[in-house]
Amino acid sequence: KSQPDWLGTPIDELNRLPQCAPPLSRLQPAPHHTVTVRTDLLREGEVPVPYPSKFKDAWDELSVKMPCSERNLFPMETEDGNGVQSRWDLIRTALQTGFKTFETLIRQLDTDIPFNNTSTCMFFFPLQGLAHSKVQQLFDVILPSMVELALKAPKLCTMPIPLLKSRMNHSLTLSQEQIACLLANAFFCTFPRRNSRKSEYGNYPEINFYRLFEGSSQRKLEKLKTLLCYFKRVTKTTPEGLVTFTRQALNNPPDWERSQTQLTHLHITCEGTIEGNGYGMLQVDFANRFVGGGVTGHGLVQEEIRFLINPELIISRLFTEALEYNECLIITGAEQYSRYSGYAESYKWEESYKDETPRDDWQRRCTEIVAIDALKYRHFLEQFLPEKMTRELNKAYCGFHRNNANRKHLSAVATGNWGCGAFGGDTRLKALIQLMAAAQAGRDVAYFTFGDALLMKDVHDMHSFLTERQVTVGQLYSLLNQYFNEECKNCRTTRPDINLYNFIYKKVSSPAASDTLNSAKDCG
Ligand code: AR6
Repeated sequence: KSQPDWLGTPIDELNRLPQCAPPLSRLQPAPHHTVTVRTDLLREGEVPVPYPSKFKDAWDELSVKMPCSERNLFPMETEDGNGVQSRWDLIRTALQTGFKTFETLIRQLDTDIPFNNTSTCMFFFPLQGLAHSKVQQLFDVILPSMVELALKAPKLCTMPIPLLKSRMNHSLTLSQEQIACLLANAFFCTFPRRNSRKSEYGNYPEINFYRLFEGSSQRKLEKLKTLLCYFKRVTKTTPEGLVTFTRQALNNPPDWERSQTQLTHLHITCEGTIEGNGYGMLQVDFANRFVGGGVTGHGLVQEEIRFLINPELIISRLFTEALEYNECLIITGAEQYSRYSGYAESYKWEESYKDETPRDDWQRRCTEIVAIDALKYRHFLEQFLPEKMTRELNKAYCGFHRNNANRKHLSAVATGNWGCGAFGGDTRLKALIQLMAAAQAGRDVAYFTFGDALLMKDVHDMHSFLTERQVTVGQLYSLLNQYFNEECKNCRTTRPDINLYNFIYKKVSSPAASDTLNSAKDCG
């Protein structure tokens, strides 16, 4: 065929984990790092041992409120007035007496679930599309073992789980087994105080899966199949690794205007996907500020799909408060359990997937994913406002930057049309912004255009042009601001007369370019 499917630097010349990574220091808990397993007993090929050995209850502002907490109480009317009953006891009874009572259970757990009254047997709705034999297996094997797993919470999740709140720089390392147990609880909707947007968790994503059981859409069925594949796998064979969740805030953003940094290498392709071809790289999750977006509801685009095929990502919703403008969430070690096809309406669970990504010394899969949420735009011109462009630059930089890292040890960024699907951004602007942020953070870029061959060519041509002319990140930043001032600010139509790339070509190529580039600082 005559059309190339990639341009720029060959992908094999970009850094990947584990090859590029420096040796890890020993895993140990620290004030900024909570580790919920015995680090001294951590061995390859063995299931990590929870720490501490006995359940430590915490029912406070700093920790996840656990379903098995003594303080998780259900108000009861008794003969002698009003009493309370242990919710965990109710959960145990309801889960053990079978799934006919599943809905009753969920109703008991929280009275404020926004149930639609007509969905009397909501759990079964999406399952109507499953083959009879699958339903049989589900009820005979998978669900009973999920119940068992969920009920192990007080044995497995013994340490209070810290909430990763706004403005906290904190890491949390959990075992894959603990995550599986927590996710089983999420599936059965047992997390207290999490069913109402008005509660203390109003600024957290939804964790209980109840919305997944509402309605009978094809989407929900395919989502359930993907999740049940995960539960089937982890209840059959306990996974042996760890996963780290790091909330990172950017407190001192770069001085973009004065940046002397040159662009780094770019591999750009219209074939493949971030998760499929960007293995070992820092993979971008096109996130919602509530991480995971609509994964437990209706959503089914890049972020939701990633959370479904690597379900351990979903547990971040239990403890990650909505991301602020200068924050990201980095997840290291999440495993892929399913293969899928299609996208959005056409999404299909294909089959179970065996992830053979090597593990690091902390027994984490060498898969690093960063959740960064772009801004949502309704009008094309909005995104060229300098403060919005700067916000996106800082957001991407926050995701890509690592403190005290030597750039030769940094993996490339695997990304694509961040913020340009559901969030309506312009791919050409966003590609430049990501190239600038990656360069500033000292990383190369592998860009997946998701089938767009023209975009591949345009971004590659722009990148080559800028690199040849040694245009710095600071100069580019000024050009973006000039574009706003000269073409967007007073624009009366929905789109400017000249597009961003042509504007840059024109400015940089003009005889007065060196003046323009140098003086851009002062008038930007
Ligand atoms: N690999 C590479 N590129 C992809 C992939 C993939 N696996 N999947 C999609 N794309 P979108 P956003 C391309 O809309 O605009 C979610 O609900 C494809 O071109 O998921 O940042 C979140 O929770 C697609 O159009 O990201 C947020 O609420 C483009 O990437 C919201 O969507 C953008 O994907 C974020 O929306």
